[in-house]
Amino acid sequence: MTSIRFRLNGAATEVDADPDRALLDVLRSHFGLAGVHFGCGSGECGACRVIVGDHAVTSCDTPLWSVADKDVITLEGLGSAEHPHPLQRAFIAEQAMQCGYCVSGVIMSAAALLRQNRDPSEVDVRAALDRNLCRCGSHNRMVRAILAAAQEMVNQR
Ligand code: FES
Ligand code: FES
Repeated sequence: MTSIRFRLNGAATEVDADPDRALLDVLRSHFGLAGVHFGCGSGECGACRVIVGDHAVTSCDTPLWSVADKDVITLEGLGSAEHPHPLQRAFIAEQAMQCGYCVSGVIMSAAALLRQNRDPSEVDVRAALDRNLCRCGSHNRMVRAILAAAQEMVNQR
C-alpha cells in the first residue's frame, strides 16, 4: 500500500492503495464513481475513459501511481443533474444513446477534445471518438450532440 495524492473532480484527495492498481478500480470502489464504466478491461473500448490532465485516458489500464499529483476528472466532475455540462445537455437533447453504457466514456473523450479544440469540425470529433466503441451504433447522434455542445460553448464566450 502506498499513499497517492491527486486532484479528483477539482478536490485534493489521497488514497492508500496498491500503486499498480487500475485507476478504474480505485475510482469505482474507493470513491464510488459509478460513471466510470468497465467494458473490455484492456484499453480497447473506451467505456472507462476519464480525463487526466488535458487528455482522455482509459482508466482500466492506467495505474494509480501514474496520476500522482495530477488532475483527474470523471463524468461526475463535468456536471450534475442540477447543473449539467453542455455536452450532457446535448446528449439528452439529441437522444445520443441507446443502452447508454458507452456514453460516459464518449462524453469524456469529447470533453477532452473541447479543452484542446473549442471549435472542432466533424472530422475532428470523429477522430476524437476513434477509440470509443458503441455497439448500439449511436455514433452519428453522438457526433451531432458534440458539435451542438461545442457551438453552445462558443456562443457562451
Ligand atoms: S474498459 Fe477500459 S478501454 Fe474498455
Ligand atoms: S449506446 Fe449502447 S453501447 Fe453505446
